[in-house]
Amino acid sequence: MNRRKFLKVAGAGGVILAAGGIGFATTRTPTAALKPWQAPGSLYKDPMRRALSFAILAPNPHNRQPWVVDLKNDTEAVLHCDLGRLLPETDPFSRQIVIGLGCFLELFSLAAAAQGYRANIGYFPNGQPSENLDQRPIAQLSLVKEAEPAAEPLFAQVLRRHTNRHPYDTARAVDAGALQRLSSVAGPAVWARGTNGGKLLRDLRVLTRDAMRAEFGTPEAYQESIDLMRIGRGEIEANPDGISLGGAFLETLSLAGILTREKLADPTSSSYQIGIEMSDEAAMSSMGFVWINTQDNERSAQIAAGRAYMRIALQATADGLVMQPMSQALQEYAAMAPYYKTVHDWLARGPGDRVQMLARLGYANDVGPSPRWPLKSRLKTG
Ligand SMILES: Cc1cc2nc3c(=O)[nH]c(=O)nc-3n(C[C@H](O)[C@H](O)[C@H](O)COP(=O)(O)O)c2cc1C
Repeated sequence: MNRRKFLKVAGAGGVILAAGGIGFATTRTPTAALKPWQAPGSLYKDPMRRALSFAILAPNPHNRQPWVVDLKNDTEAVLHCDLGRLLPETDPFSRQIVIGLGCFLELFSLAAAAQGYRANIGYFPNGQPSENLDQRPIAQLSLVKEAEPAAEPLFAQVLRRHTNRHPYDTARAVDAGALQRLSSVAGPAVWARGTNGGKLLRDLRVLTRDAMRAEFGTPEAYQESIDLMRIGRGEIEANPDGISLGGAFLETLSLAGILTREKLADPTSSSYQIGIEMSDEAAMSSMGFVWINTQDNERSAQIAAGRAYMRIALQATADGLVMQPMSQALQEYAAMAPYYKTVHDWLARGPGDRVQMLARLGYANDVGPSPRWPLKSRLKTG
């Protein structure tokens, strides 16, 4: 939230206060919650935990971090989904959760390669769940030492990649060569395409803006996000997942009682209105979009889409671009049905083809990393 918006909120609440001094700002940055980004893998000697230390930095819906890894030994493990970390309102079939697990597996594989190992990944060893995820494992993982490991340049971007929800620079068009690289890095298991201008760009800006507004207007869906908001350093450190609203500025608003879960949920409040305004502004400043389609919606296709999204996001970082998934129009709940239909009319290759990811692209200043639970909290041993 910028200062102009802050003044608007403060004015609306009849409260005038300074948005924190420098001393306050420096004590408001979470430390433990961001630690997993510092020299990942350095805590461990074995290749499995070293690779997993990078995998937990994967993008994933609402930063739920639903991964649980059952460690067998230094080179073998089984990936499970924590069924307590699903998003039943906005992701009723856990399609996006599985995409996030695909992102995790791609980072795992890249990190293994960087250490000289090939990651063998057996998907759904006990069968693919259908409508609902169940206790069956997502993937069996094993690491095999490679005599001549292939270079993987995308790995160099892992710590620099961050989802960026800010407005993008509308004076800077997305380079056509960069857009082409995003499509080709996705790999053969999916179909990835993009746009950087013209009518389709303008239409997608409006569609993603309106779909997000529809989410704001669907109380159960929006409440799911509000319940996962971590407001201020204390909440972020206690639960380094969900949607973190941190920094001196937002924390000052929270201390002043201006930024609260109740106000965010109240359509008559200025916090709610400003939330919509900020989200509108982000969507309308998109300078490009990239989308990832699969020919069906099997769980394995969702994993493939996640692996492709991970690669695209890393390539975007290498090209100096920033990204934000704009998933609302792809979600499978009633309020989204018209947007879902439109986005498939525009972007699907034919009947049955599924748009799994849609993300906006552009140039903006980096936003820094988002919180993560430490690897050890996501491991099951013995
Ligand atoms: C399948 C999927 C869907 C996502 N949808 C959205 C979205 O609609 N809006 C958004 O701002 N971020 C979305 N994200 C990004 C996550 O919120 C983000 O990855 C997570 O908060 C962790 O932050 P990081 O990517 O900066 O590490 C999505 C990520 C995935 C994998």
